[in-house]
Amino acid sequence: MPLPRITVLISGRGSNLAALLEAEKNGSLRGIVHTVISNRADAAGLAIALAHGARINVVDHRAHADRNGFDAALAEAVDAGRPDLVVLAGFMRILGPAFVARYADRMLNIHPSLLPAYPGLHTHRRALDDGVRIHGCTVHFVTADLDHGPIVGQAVVPVLPDDDETKLAARVLAAEHRLLPAAVRAFCDGRWPIRDAIRHVNQSVVRTASSGKFITLFYGEIDPGNARVRYINAGHNYPLLRRADGGVEELREGGTPLGIFEDADYDQGEISFRPGDGLMLYSDGISEAIDTMGTEFGEERLRSLWRQRGHRPPADVIALVLEDIASFRGDAAQSDDITLVVVGSRGG
Ligand code: GAR
Repeated sequence: MPLPRITVLISGRGSNLAALLEAEKNGSLRGIVHTVISNRADAAGLAIALAHGARINVVDHRAHADRNGFDAALAEAVDAGRPDLVVLAGFMRILGPAFVARYADRMLNIHPSLLPAYPGLHTHRRALDDGVRIHGCTVHFVTADLDHGPIVGQAVVPVLPDDDETKLAARVLAAEHRLLPAAVRAFCDGRWPIRDAIRHVNQSVVRTASSGKFITLFYGEIDPGNARVRYINAGHNYPLLRRADGGVEELREGGTPLGIFEDADYDQGEISFRPGDGLMLYSDGISEAIDTMGTEFGEERLRSLWRQRGHRPPADVIALVLEDIASFRGDAAQSDDITLVVVGSRGG
């Protein structure tokens, strides 16, 4: 299962690297720290990497006459690990524009201040000198403009009256150790094909569910920027996509329910989801509701309600479906649990 591969660049102690490795070990990183590279052979973080089983490499900046030479050697070492993500975790060399461009949108840095405040060095001392009451750390994408790339996450810590540089640095560092793994995880989650994620979940359900039990699942990710939804339907009732013009389509791509076949594979579907479109997920308690004559409510009735009234806000649609079911059923007992999710999109 190809988890995103990560290369971490360090220059010294490596406590942020250790936090990443700990998160990898407990499964919360969703990525693999494959290679650790230091510009100093005596960086303590290298031993931490080795103990974890990561590959290590040293690219000593002093062995190169200028920054371009160092950057080229470093890029060669980084590329050897074929990383999906490069993380600067206490890497104390400035990188040139060509190096930064090579890893654009896939290189993160942790910086010990609440950027854009205090870029550069001695951040804790400068914060104390200014008498600020809050301080913290930032994870950001690396761009050619030092410590100014797009911010991925920040953690805030208070500055206390008896703080000195050491105390404040320790408080910020503890926050860094929470923030950096969370930011890396968010990046990895976005890169991990949902097909692999669902296969992974299926395998763990197969191993843990009692015999004869299975789970149906619909998993979708809405990308509002690109007006798209990518999804996998693992044996769930086909969710009903309603287009702004009232047309209804079923979301069928996926595979079997979870927990049946260990090697089950899943197809990923992708649809456009534009203003005015809506998505309805429903459980059997709706489609299989029975009236006093024993007739099923059925999917066609639900579809036509969705087609005709689906332009209303999601809360209204839910109320309408529940009313319809209740009046259809009359005095008949409810046959199954009713779960209904309606997702709307603004602008329609
Ligand atoms: C961390 O505080 C990190 O934010 C900082 O160096 C320290 C490395 O500690 N990075 C920078 O200042 C980058 N401009 P670590 O080696 O124990 O992770």
